[in-house]
Amino acid sequence: MNKEKKIFSTLMVLAMVGLAVALSGCVEEEVNKIIVGTSADFAPFEYTDENGNIIGFDIEMVTAILESLNYTVEVKDIGFDSLIPSLQAETIDVIAAAMTITEEREEQIDFSIPYYEADQSVLIKKDSGVEINESHNLENFTASIANLTIGAQTGTTGAGWVQENLIDTGLMDEANLKLYDLYIDAVADLDIGPARLDVIILDLPVAQAFAEDSGREVVYTIITGESYGLGVREGETDLLNKINAELEEFMASEEWTTLITKYFE
Ligand code: ARG
Repeated sequence: MNKEKKIFSTLMVLAMVGLAVALSGCVEEEVNKIIVGTSADFAPFEYTDENGNIIGFDIEMVTAILESLNYTVEVKDIGFDSLIPSLQAETIDVIAAAMTITEEREEQIDFSIPYYEADQSVLIKKDSGVEINESHNLENFTASIANLTIGAQTGTTGAGWVQENLIDTGLMDEANLKLYDLYIDAVADLDIGPARLDVIILDLPVAQAFAEDSGREVVYTIITGESYGLGVREGETDLLNKINAELEEFMASEEWTTLITKYFE
């Protein structure tokens, strides 16, 4: 081989290696991309900031966990009730939406270990005349709420509570339950007043966030003892195990405490 040929073939080899590296870079990024689905109407767990970025406790937590598993994370905002179907249809890969682990959902998807505990609660507009308070026992409470207009997000455990405890028991007319795609739309109706909506039933930590610096108030806690989990497709055991291991480690870390302080205090 003469000198020029040698240089030429060396360059060719280098170019091919370069191309291969570049291509594998692309492929790898595709392979390691993971799509997280949420419903960004649920501060402090998931919501949008003034620039439209999806932020919140769940988002930071799930991003940290998936990034340490070497994934590139994309977050998609979809209605809460569409999260499980989207996971099954593979348009998303993980659900991070303050989703309560329930038996019914366990039949459709797999859940991580629990990461947060919450009860349901009642949010009202201050001075709206709604007379419910923490001194009511459950029986008094259900009696006093049954003739009000109640709002909840479609497909949530809050909506389920109303269905099971007020509608199915015959205490309340089905028409009194107004279902919303987003909790923020329910809150907008609550702010209009009793002509639209008397109360909202939703997870306590989120009700507290909606009540902060507003004309709203949390007046009652319904003890339901729910636990939130991240959702993955059924049978994706490998991903689930990796998420659980990371989550467990994360929950014992300093970062976890920092996140709790940032979003809940
Ligand atoms: N924890 C409740 C449930 O699982 C409500 C969750 C609503 N989440 C949301 N991001 N809007 O049904």
